[in-house]
Amino acid sequence: MSFNTVELNRQRQPLEHMDTVWLFGYGSLIFKVDFEYLESRTASIQNWERRFWQGSHDHRGTYEVPGRVVTLIEREGSHCKGVAYRVPTEVFDHLDVREKNGYLRFFTPMTFEDGSKADGLVYVASEDNAAYLGPDKDEKMARQIAMASGPSGPNAEYLLKLADALRALGDHDEHVFRLETLLKSESI
Ligand code: BEZ
Repeated sequence: MSFNTVELNRQRQPLEHMDTVWLFGYGSLIFKVDFEYLESRTASIQNWERRFWQGSHDHRGTYEVPGRVVTLIEREGSHCKGVAYRVPTEVFDHLDVREKNGYLRFFTPMTFEDGSKADGLVYVASEDNAAYLGPDKDEKMARQIAMASGPSGPNAEYLLKLADALRALGDHDEHVFRLETLLKSESI
């Protein structure tokens, strides 16, 4: 799959027939809310976990020195906490471009904190996209994050803002917090 997924998302899943949809944010959508929304609620999705396994050439890195940003990996029994936003479908004109580097969107079941459910739209970069990096040793991933910077700012800032936002949500994401600890340590 090519880097640019804008047209692919629009063809695969046109949303014009809907007024609003729930968008589930698990990464930058939690701390960089540059889109209109009608309400937001803490929510979780089951059988997915957040991982810094996607390369960023356009936001938090460059083609020469790519950064690492999060995607979702399917794993039975796991869950991922995030923020659900009810958004007018026009916001996807903006978000499909913002998240064009390998992310495809689709609907998945979501559970709100009070136990009620709805389908939420998520952006996921799977391993068949050209920017996918996959797993590596934590120290190596933290070092890569420490080094990279792109048009949206330093990759380190992305990790630190995400970790702060997850703490504010009451989430304990061991993968994110371990990378944060390594980033802040002298050892990488
Ligand atoms: C998110 O924060 O949900 C998100 C992460 C990566 C790409 C697009 C959205």
